[in-house]
Amino acid sequence: MLQRPRRNRKSEAIRAFHRETVLAPDHFIYPLFVHEGKGRQPIASMPGCDRLGFDDLLRECEGALAEGIRAVVLFPAIREELKTSDGREAHNPEGLIPRCLRALGERFPELVLVTDVALDPYSSDGHDGIVKDGRILNDETVDVLVKQALCQASAGADIIAPSDMMDGRVGAIREALDDAGHTEVSILSYTAKYASAFYGPFRDALESAPRFGDKKTYQMDPANAREALREVELDEAEGADIVMVKPAGPYLDVIRLVRDSTALPVAAYQVSGEYAMLKAASQQGWLDEKRVVLESLVAIRRAGADVIFTYYARQAAKWLRTA
Ligand code: PBG
Repeated sequence: MLQRPRRNRKSEAIRAFHRETVLAPDHFIYPLFVHEGKGRQPIASMPGCDRLGFDDLLRECEGALAEGIRAVVLFPAIREELKTSDGREAHNPEGLIPRCLRALGERFPELVLVTDVALDPYSSDGHDGIVKDGRILNDETVDVLVKQALCQASAGADIIAPSDMMDGRVGAIREALDDAGHTEVSILSYTAKYASAFYGPFRDALESAPRFGDKKTYQMDPANAREALREVELDEAEGADIVMVKPAGPYLDVIRLVRDSTALPVAAYQVSGEYAMLKAASQQGWLDEKRVVLESLVAIRRAGADVIFTYYARQAAKWLRTA
């Protein structure tokens, strides 16, 4: 035999010569849930992730930074009495997210602060947009999302991440940010966000599940890939700095397609349901948690993601240091 591929796999040093994909804490954005009260509140379907009180948020960020995580994204659990049909709490300058941003910006100026733009945590309907007669209004919603983005930018967000999937929101937010002098604030768009059942545990965490219907008139059909290219084209034209595919693991083909169609950085979101599956099987002793998690993250990078939103960020950073 002239060809013996196994020769290139015969030791760790030789395997490392031609390893194509690198995974490092630089590639992670760490999602954190915050709530208005004190202390940590466990999330039943996401063991190991808690809703954090203000002091716990500061402690968590300090620990994560020490372990090499340089970016976090914040999601708020909003009290039921503050949820309204117009989601106005989303742009309250004294709201939970702006308060967290100001404190984190002061305490950890080097930490990259990413914020979610969408109305679902603030909406009494549990939808990402404003609802009228059972329909999700697009343009009226974009007006509110713009206010939300401006509020977050004023409080110190470095990257605004619209996850709502309304048409035209990236362009509207870009224009408003620029007009207000926030030319350095980036937009990471949830470009190809699918109407996925893998968001279940996240909606438990925020009690933000839709109160009627589903999100299929704005989030994408899981059966489609070409449609992602149309969304990339629009977001790019509207001024997005980074485009995202979500979920990640079940959509590796879409990550690759997007990677090959744009020069922008590509992000991918390993969502709550992906975390829950890996965690549950590991807790049962059916999978080796460290190995499956690192493998899942390498696979997302190999598919073409530059940066990964993952609830395992802090743990994976620790594992990578000792790997
Ligand atoms: C809200 C939002 C969702 C996620 C991120 N931002 C939920 C949804 O669209 O219903 C999901 C994240 C996850 O499941 O980890 N617009």
